[in-house]
Amino acid sequence: MDTTKTHAPPPLCPTPKVALRVWDLPIRLFHWSLVLLIGVSLLSGKKGEMEVHMASGLFLLTLLLFRFLWGIVGSTTARFSYFLCGPRSLWTYLNGLWKGLPGYSPVGHNPAGGLAIVLMLTVLTVQATSGLFANDDIYTKGPLAHLVENETSDALTTIHKYNVKLMLSLIGLHILANLFYLVIKGENLILPMITGKKYTNFKKEEKNLHFVSTYIALFLMILSSVLVYFLINFSKYF
Ligand code: HEM
Repeated sequence: MDTTKTHAPPPLCPTPKVALRVWDLPIRLFHWSLVLLIGVSLLSGKKGEMEVHMASGLFLLTLLLFRFLWGIVGSTTARFSYFLCGPRSLWTYLNGLWKGLPGYSPVGHNPAGGLAIVLMLTVLTVQATSGLFANDDIYTKGPLAHLVENETSDALTTIHKYNVKLMLSLIGLHILANLFYLVIKGENLILPMITGKKYTNFKKEEKNLHFVSTYIALFLMILSSVLVYFLINFSKYF
């Protein structure tokens, strides 16, 4: 008998579904803190509670700074290099989605999601940084408004006001996309953003995800807070 023969499963045998850790704790905390802080910023801005508005804006800026650092040195699924892809992969993915081809879900963000996330992070960064230089014509000035000419501050105030619409449109699209996956494709992406685990049929090589220690995330969060603190408190000496 030939004992060297391996018994590969028949080619049509479906890959068994397994639960796989996909999102680390820092990403999940980042995501839900972001949601909370955007809510606080929108509400306080509308009600004219400018102290709360500026505090939540600075927290947002700190979170975003942390996210950009984590996107470079963080866990595999958090890295920009992992989920940002070229136009060809994006096209192939969207084409498959449109034609309703049997869905293969990548670990982490899919090509369209990855692009949307970078767009959202960019628009949020524009929102938070323009606020630093904005003014409300009467009492309130952003903490760095004194560093620029009045006309520049006014222009950045306009950007701060109109960028909100872009930000809300992207957030709306993001939520609709999640609902589309849930209702039409029968894939719950929301639960993994809470538990960190996805339950689906992954390719073998995708199980080799690398998770960076939460202590490093904590260090980066402290570093981001210190940088924002120094930027605001020492700007008067610039
Ligand atoms: C203020 C509103 C929101 C903002 C600004 C926002 C922003 C983001 C960002 C930046 C990411 C990427 C996470 C990362 O890699 O750092 C993300 C992912 C995600 N968000 Fe949101 N989000 C918002 C609301 C929501 C809501 C309400 C839900 C649930 C319905 C949701 C579900 C998700 C899911 C499931 C992912 C992971 C998507 C994937 O699997 O690729 N988000 N969101």
